[in-house]
Amino acid sequence: MSPFLLTRTLPEDVTDAALRADVRQGLTRTPKTLPPKWFYDAHGSELFELITQLPEYYPTRAEREILLARSGEIAAATGARTLIELGSGSSDKTRHLIDALTALHTYVPVDVSESALTGAGRALLAERPGLDVHALIADFTAGLTLPDTPGPRLLAFLGGTIGNLPPAERAVFLASVRALLAPGDVLLLGTDLVKDERVLVRAYDDAAGVTAAFNKNVLAVVNRELGADFDAGAFDHVALWDAGQEWIEMRLRARRALTVKIPALDLAVDFTAGEELRTEVSAKFRQDGVRAELSAAELELTHWWTDDEGRFALSLSVAR
Ligand code: SAH
Ligand code: TRP
Repeated sequence: MSPFLLTRTLPEDVTDAALRADVRQGLTRTPKTLPPKWFYDAHGSELFELITQLPEYYPTRAEREILLARSGEIAAATGARTLIELGSGSSDKTRHLIDALTALHTYVPVDVSESALTGAGRALLAERPGLDVHALIADFTAGLTLPDTPGPRLLAFLGGTIGNLPPAERAVFLASVRALLAPGDVLLLGTDLVKDERVLVRAYDDAAGVTAAFNKNVLAVVNRELGADFDAGAFDHVALWDAGQEWIEMRLRARRALTVKIPALDLAVDFTAGEELRTEVSAKFRQDGVRAELSAAELELTHWWTDDEGRFALSLSVAR
């Protein structure tokens, strides 16, 4: 195998058809919605990297702290020869894990963002020239086919990205993750934890406005891909805590009544003044809930680690 292989399981036209279907469906229902995977074009991936460096956005630093402290234990517990990572982005924190996994043969980063995968691949090859990197451009919610690589497998899903799936989709997703593993293989899951509302809201509504720009980037994607005429300046970024669901909800609120034309869909969409478009949820977790959701997917929680301040958790669970 060559040291860096990039496989596209998402042909451009399939992406296009999926975007069209999602936009038509999401903008013609009440309340209006747009699914979050469309945030991550090249510009969206860059904006997310800026988010991870914001003083208010603690999850990345907290998860890195845990990885630095526990990668040795994770390596000892798994002996993984293949590391698969879903929603790998820049793979930046993953380096700590890769460094500790002494038996590692192949790393399989999976992401919808091609620019993130090629950037991460370049950086990794420079650091770990012997490692096989088989990057996959793929949607992790749409039935993954993984390359045939040696076990045992460690599947990592970091960043709290699992919280971007609503509960019903999480259950389906975890069952599909379990199906990618053989008995004894391990899931490493990053989950952000329930905490003070002010801390949570600030993490998704930073002073510099980077998260607002990220949220609005989805409008730029629809403009570029479908010829729409969204005026991002006519929308305000909104982040609010839903205490019942225990999730942060991101929205874009129309400042005035407006009509958006989407020529590729032959569609005109009316917004009333103050109408909100829902773009993303980011669920926050508790240990009991994580254990139960894993257990429902035949994954047994074996380790639970948090950062010193108890803000974020990494868990290991083993496939039964
Ligand atoms: N793991 C990194 C990045 C988290 S951001 C970290 O912890 O910092 C979420 C990542 O998941 C982005 O890189 C985004 O492109 C990717 N992503 C989002 N939805 C996806 C989907 N449905 N399929 C594959 N990748 C997805
Ligand atoms: N997985 C990240 C999270 O839930 C993604 C994210 C961070 C995000 N900030 C965002 C998604 C703002 C949309 C808008 O923390």
